[in-house]
Amino acid sequence: MILWFLLLQGLALGPGVLTDGTVIKPVRSAGPFDEDHSPPLVPIPRLEEKVAIITGGAGGIGSAAAKLFASHGAYVIIADKNDTAGEKVVQQIGGRVLFKHCDVSKEADVALTVNYALEKFGKLDILFNNAGVASPLQTFQGLNMDDYDRCTAVNVRGIVLGIKHAARVMVPRRTGIILNTASIASVATGGTIKLIYNMNKANIPGITKVAAYHLGKHGIRVNCISPAGLATEMVVDWHKKFVQENIDRHTLEKAFLRCSPLNGRICTTEDIAKGALYLCSDESGYISGQNLIIDAGYTNIVDYDPMELRKKLKSASNSDSGSLSSATANTAESGNRDHQCFNPVVISKL
Ligand SMILES: NC(=O)c1ccc[n+]([C@@H]2O[C@H](COP(=O)([O-])OP(=O)(O)OC[C@H]3O[C@@H](n4cnc5c(N)ncnc54)[C@H](O)[C@@H]3O)[C@@H](O)[C@H]2O)c1
Repeated sequence: MILWFLLLQGLALGPGVLTDGTVIKPVRSAGPFDEDHSPPLVPIPRLEEKVAIITGGAGGIGSAAAKLFASHGAYVIIADKNDTAGEKVVQQIGGRVLFKHCDVSKEADVALTVNYALEKFGKLDILFNNAGVASPLQTFQGLNMDDYDRCTAVNVRGIVLGIKHAARVMVPRRTGIILNTASIASVATGGTIKLIYNMNKANIPGITKVAAYHLGKHGIRVNCISPAGLATEMVVDWHKKFVQENIDRHTLEKAFLRCSPLNGRICTTEDIAKGALYLCSDESGYISGQNLIIDAGYTNIVDYDPMELRKKLKSASNSDSGSLSSATANTAESGNRDHQCFNPVVISKL
């Protein structure tokens, strides 16, 4: 009672001032700053008591998101087809995280994973539809439709299945958040190096908009996130298979650093996880149907630099044939232009 009295007196004097004049700083504040514009002393958990499923949570971006979401008070279910890696992430993060085997291309698995969230926690607040696979190096002329179906089953069908089953349990509650992982390939085609992957990822912002429209009526937000190149297992393995057998994560990160538009900085899985946290928290409460591109402006770059053009023209006229194709090959070899970042020719020479 005495404490309440003192506190009420304090409030009468103004926030944070007790009757004896002692100034107390709030440990939490409703906004990012307290009344004297200093940051709050304790960070506010942004997903307290939320229940999230993260598909592809056994690897790179997904496991970074699982860790960050859990540190912000969420209960997380890692849904992945890689049981060993998934269990390992659960052990690393501890308490608030569970693993559920799930192949996102199989409807029964996706349905069971959503049901598992209800069994364990009684609700589903967030679905981070993040599982994905890379595709082989192909051209349209040589497109292998079995590869197309296999990749599309995960990268597109998997996303749609996730939305379908999340909606099944979110619509009756009239609340929920769905976040889909696209890629910078959703806005920039990146040449022909991963044709199927690029086509798959280009679908995701469109699916996101359609879902945002239909589910928005039920109080559900749907967004997507587009990461820049990251040397995760999927990307390292792809380069080992199609570019250079002995390439390692470090070499690939060097290549990414070389073409990063942000000097001295490459994109990390934590950068993407932080974007995901924003889109899955109430802070983005009026944002839906959007594609958050996290690439330090990489996809904004139009590769036209008059000084570079002068060099290209010079090297073309010095070369034997003087043709445009030899000038292009020279540029690929110099490897220091932005768009060469994901060019296997350049990477194989690092
Ligand atoms: N790494 C990049 O450069 C990059 C860039 C843009 C977008 N992305 C996208 O980010 C997402 C995560 O990829 P990452 O880079 O963290 O790679 P990663 O290999 O580290 O993680 C991918 C995870 O997805 C899981 N997975 C694959 N197929 C699955 C399936 N059918 N069902 C369930 N799980 C499955 C894998 O087991 C793995 O744990 C993918 O959608 C990827 O396309 C990655």
